[in-house]
Order: sequence, then structure tokens, then C-alpha cells
Amino acid sequence: MSSDEFVVTPWHVEGDIDYDKLIKQFGTQKISNDLLSKLQKITGEDHFMLRRGVFFSHRDLNLILENFEKGKEFFLYTGRGPSGHTHIGHLIPWVFAKWLQDKFNVNMYFQLTDDEKFFAKQDLSLDQTTNFALENALDFIALGFKPDKTKIIINTKHIKTLYPIAAQVAKKINFSNTKAVFGFTNETNVGMIFYTSLQSAPCFIENKQVLIPLGVDQDPHFRITRDIAQKINKTKPALIHNIMIPSLLGPGGKMSASDEKSTIYTTDSPEVVKKKINKYAFSGGQSDIDEHRKIGGNPDIDVSYQYLRIFFERDDSKLKKIYDDYKSGKMLTGELKSILIEKINKFLLVHQQKRQEARKNIDDYTVSYKHLRAHETE
Ligand code: TRP
Repeated sequence: MSSDEFVVTPWHVEGDIDYDKLIKQFGTQKISNDLLSKLQKITGEDHFMLRRGVFFSHRDLNLILENFEKGKEFFLYTGRGPSGHTHIGHLIPWVFAKWLQDKFNVNMYFQLTDDEKFFAKQDLSLDQTTNFALENALDFIALGFKPDKTKIIINTKHIKTLYPIAAQVAKKINFSNTKAVFGFTNETNVGMIFYTSLQSAPCFIENKQVLIPLGVDQDPHFRITRDIAQKINKTKPALIHNIMIPSLLGPGGKMSASDEKSTIYTTDSPEVVKKKINKYAFSGGQSDIDEHRKIGGNPDIDVSYQYLRIFFERDDSKLKKIYDDYKSGKMLTGELKSILIEKINKFLLVHQQKRQEARKNIDDYTVSYKHLRAHETE
């Protein structure tokens, strides 16, 4: 693969992603300034992830907002494939979803696809992915979603709720569709081939339009869902896409939950965070201090700077000062890294406490069959 090539699929992300090109490839819409102003007008807030282009693309978000203004409610849905502990990159769409829930006061569904990760990963047992699903659920709850408006769905546990909807979807997807979208072959296991139907099911769990905040790598599933929605008399899901958070090791690829070195887990201790950032975080600095003072660093490729921009430094003026000082050579790589380490550890201190508390109230969030009767109204 040459340096200007990249791959983005739900199971594989590689290369230096050109997001404008990706918008064209996937056929999504860039979030325009008009749409940003509209969101700001309705929510009364200019969210930093929107302002900084962390969420950069969408499908039908304009429709969601137009309908909302006419008094028509929507609901939220996102998910996670539990292949390991949660890492900080996963929190991005969830933090944003929590903000949307607060602003619009709507229901939220969170799907944990323990079956998917079992199908996709050779080295994981179903017990392991189900255990990770429960662990990941704690991170989700820790972010403060409203218990009375939020439901967590674990595929292998709540299949009874999902299956009647998945069956409707599955009947309208044929093998050549999924093959074309995902590149499946004759050797692909049939769990994978069916899987898009299960990821689609929560889109139709209520008889309202859904808005899905998600990493852009997940778009292909919902392209299929959107294609079949009308065939089962449902509204197409609307999507809002975030960029992939870079791996600690540098540009090209998202963080992978299966590679220790490339990832900060929400369960990491302060010492581990410090060690990982100092040792592995890809730096845009020069090889020695004199050079760095003279030429300056490159914040645009520096992973520590990017983490501050994407998540950990919410204050624009502080962020700009870091950018300028690093670029001019006034700030050294070690100084930049220590700012990030402090930010992450401060965040994790609180998050890990809430995560422990979540062990007690996880049942408040688990979906109950009674709660979900939308498909029975058919
Ligand atoms: N397939 C997703 C993953 O591997 C998990 C998922 C299920 C999801 N439903 C979703 C992600 C809805 C985003 C939106 O992470």
C-alpha cells in the first residue's frame, strides 16, 4: 500500500485516512457550516467535537433536526464490539451521544456485539467476548447516561428482543449485497454474513427515526440498513460520523483494542498511562533539543497533540497556545507529553471510580423484553 492509500472497513482500518476522499467513497455528506449553526441554535451549545471536526460527516442529520423542530422526536443508538477492554478512542462517540441525550432528552440504545467479535476474531471465545461486553458496559454507564432513558443490549443475552427485527432485515439482504460491501468470500463464516442484520436491528427498535453517532468505519453496515429500510416500511437511520482516533504509535490506523502498545485502556493505572505515552506516543518533534528549538515540532502529526485536540483539552485558547508553542519549538515533546499524561490521568481517576459504581447499577440499564415492544406493533 503506498502512502496515499488507505482502507476503512468495520474490521480493518489502515493507512493515513483522507477524510474528504472517504466522504466521496462512502457517499456521505460533509457537516456543513449551516448544519453546524442549526445544531448550535437548537442545542444552545457549540460542542468542541463538532467545532474541531472530530464529527465531520453525516447522513440525514439535517432531516433529524428539521423533524425535531416540527416536534417529531428521534432516538439514539450506538454500539461496541467487545474484543477487549475499552480504550479512550471508544469513548468519543459515547461522550458525544451523552451530550446529545442531554440536549434532546431522548432514548438511547447501546448494543454490545459479543457474537460479532466472536465471529470475527480467531483467538476469542464467546465467554471472553461476553465478559468484555459486561466490562465495556461499565465504561458506557460511567459516562452518566440517564438510566430511565437508556438501554444496553448484549447480543447473546437479548437476542429474543433483536431476532424478530433482524429476521425482517435479513430477508431483504442478499449475499451479493454483503459480499460487495464487505468483500466476503466462500471461506467467510456464516455468522459474519448474517451479522449486519443484527447490527441493523436496534435501528428499528422504536417506531421513530434513529440517529447513530459512530466511528466512520461502521458506516458500511448502515449503508445496507438504509438500502433495505423502505422495503420493510421503516425510516432510514440517520448517522453522524467521527474520525478514527490515531493509534499511539502514529498516523495511519485507529487504536486497536488488541495491541497493548497502541492503546490506552480506561482501566490503565496512572503509571501505565505515563509509561505508554512517554515510550510509545508518536512524536512530531525533532530528534534532538537544539534541532527542535530551531525548527520546531509538527503538532499535526503529533499523537499527544491530537489526543488533546480530539478529547482532552476542551479550552480552545489553551489548545492554540500548545499548538503554537510546539510548532515554534518553544515547547518540547517531553513537555507536551506531560500535559497529556496529566489530563488523561485526571480524567481516568474520576472515570474509574464511576466505573466501579456502575457495577452496582448495571441492571438498571439492561434491556428488558417488556421495555421493547415496538416490533410487536407491526
Ligand atoms: N460493530 C461495532 C464494532 O465493532 C459495534 C456496533 C454495534 C456499533 N452496533 C453499533 C457501532 C452501532 C456503532 C453503531 O465496534
